Amino acid sequence: MSKEKFYITTPIYYTNNYLHIGHSYTTIATDAMARYKKMRGYDVKFLTGSDEHGQKIEDSAKQKGISPKEYVDHITNHIKDLWKLLNIDYDYYIRTTDEKHIKTVQKIFKALYDKGDIYKGHYEGLYCTPCETFFTESQLKDGKCPDCGRDVHNVKEESYFFKLSKYQDRLIKHIEENEDFISPASRKNEMLNNFLRPGLEDLCVSRTSFKWGIPVEFDKEHVVYVWIDALSNYISALGYGSDDDSDFKKYWPADIHVVGKEIVRFHTIIWPAMLMALDLELPKQIFGHGWLLIDGGKMSKSKGNVVDPKVLVDRYGVDAIRYFLLREVAFGQDGNFTNKSLIERINFDLANDLGNLLSRTVGMIDKYFGGTLPTFTDSNDESEKNIKEFSNDTIIKVEQYMDKMQFSSALTEIWNLVRRVNKYIDETTPWVLAKDEANKNKLANVMYTLAEALRIIGILITPAMPNTSKAIFEQLSIKDDNLLSWDSAKTFGLLAKDLSITKGNVIFPRIDIEKELEELDAMIEATKAKANANNKGETKTEEKEQIGFEDFLKMDFKIGEVLECEKIKKSNKLLKSKVKIGDKVLQIVSGIANYYTPEEMVGKKVVVLTNLKPAKLCGEISEGMILAASDNDNNLKLITVEDSDNVIKSGAEVK
Ligand code: MSP
Repeated sequence: MSKEKFYITTPIYYTNNYLHIGHSYTTIATDAMARYKKMRGYDVKFLTGSDEHGQKIEDSAKQKGISPKEYVDHITNHIKDLWKLLNIDYDYYIRTTDEKHIKTVQKIFKALYDKGDIYKGHYEGLYCTPCETFFTESQLKDGKCPDCGRDVHNVKEESYFFKLSKYQDRLIKHIEENEDFISPASRKNEMLNNFLRPGLEDLCVSRTSFKWGIPVEFDKEHVVYVWIDALSNYISALGYGSDDDSDFKKYWPADIHVVGKEIVRFHTIIWPAMLMALDLELPKQIFGHGWLLIDGGKMSKSKGNVVDPKVLVDRYGVDAIRYFLLREVAFGQDGNFTNKSLIERINFDLANDLGNLLSRTVGMIDKYFGGTLPTFTDSNDESEKNIKEFSNDTIIKVEQYMDKMQFSSALTEIWNLVRRVNKYIDETTPWVLAKDEANKNKLANVMYTLAEALRIIGILITPAMPNTSKAIFEQLSIKDDNLLSWDSAKTFGLLAKDLSITKGNVIFPRIDIEKELEELDAMIEATKAKANANNKGETKTEEKEQIGFEDFLKMDFKIGEVLECEKIKKSNKLLKSKVKIGDKVLQIVSGIANYYTPEEMVGKKVVVLTNLKPAKLCGEISEGMILAASDNDNNLKLITVEDSDNVIKSGAEVK
């Protein structure tokens, strides 16, 4: 019997910026859903990709002195690296600069033009270049772009228009009749009430003021509007309009387009209208998830409050981050990202609950049965029956939640099981049973039940935490794939006896919360300060406040000689140096471990701000600042003295 297909997509990511943890959120959720459906036996196609055209990209490339293609190649590689790091198991990666995509978009544009759904006219409006959006006068905020607050300018251009208004009534009808088309329901009402019912205007779908886009094939002065270009990826990736459209025939319509809430409008109005115009089926569902906020506000590079997923993965491991994102926020709603909530989840849910359950189980099987899983002897014991029932109930609930993309509730159910099984250890007290040979059977039953519960927990967490489930299976030495399938979790008691259990590493080491928070906060402050400096740099130096000579004199810069240097444990970035300044020695903590080794530091003559108020970084006092130059490309070099004859001694003043 052939498998049922399941086609799921993320948005394609803009290549005008590096991605932060908020971006990763869409992809991790989609990946968890795709993995879940694969485990449930579907023929899954999981699509992601990058959105590589538009004026902003043309401008950014120009600023860097490279071609737009070189620029997007670089960012796309970076995005792909990030997905690898986050263990995103996509099936196809589409780029809007792929020849295959370009041809499909040109065909779509021409087909709509031939049909009379695209026509030529003039566009006049207020345009915000960074946001690539037109606004009406009334939409502006204090005369500026309502989204980014920057200047808008009047643009009058010859343009092509798409007859969006023609599809308004059909769209309303479709949305009303198909309850799950827009999920969650609140987003559906927002679309109907704020956009569709008040009336749609035709959409400007070409631009002539920049070149970095897909040319309209029959009118080369025009490039296709970025959203028409971008949305088409969902079918160009399947070969729509090409010689080989077998994937399109097989997988279209999409089962779920997963998107963030700010782009639901494009996916539920423009995209379905385009598909109607092309006489194609509409996707079954558009799921608009909420935003990951920081301090209650949006993450943005200019505010310096973006959280870098790589930094988090390096510190805590990929599964901790995947778990946190899927568990902490109900999918669909906005949620706040805080360092404290992340670390607490890791310590309590992962280290205490799951990690402990595994290490206790494996440790006890090792201690009481020499590492060999004993046989379960049929007993009428309520406690074992209870675990079996709890586990069976959990699977039913997890499926119900996963089917609705309610990851947080699904994980809550799994963790209820984890806690229940931990409690079972406390109830059955194996260490007491072990004292009396007469309890050998009961002890064996407890060990078997624990191992079997862990097998099932391992299966259920696989979509969210694929590496952790592997680590659990490794320690339990389960190699038979039949025992790892989703459906096998529905039968309690499949584990064979005599498995040799291998004690492994602790899967989630506990974190010293206070120390960790200090260090993370210091890192965030440093990023914010850098963003501020960059912002000021961008808005020209005259905006920097002038300081008087007396202000300059307040700062005590001296030459220091690094006597000792070591890495700060628990930190990837910080080095602790003892720096000799004349006859004094200061301890200075610097965020330079990614650029200098402790060995390289020793003996260096550096410039030090010596009268900076002492502060604690990662639990270590820092009594000054070693100066370094760094740029936006993450290069960093220490400032040293040009002194080949070695005449400048430590303590010399820098003025
Ligand atoms: N290029 C468009 C999509 C075109 S799809 C035909 C785009 N790209 S994006 O890179 O800006 O965003 C990609 C995804 O990241 C979107 O789903 C967006 O909602 C998501 N996020 C970006 N910041 C986010 C948060 N802070 N929180 C959660 N998701 C957010 O839009």
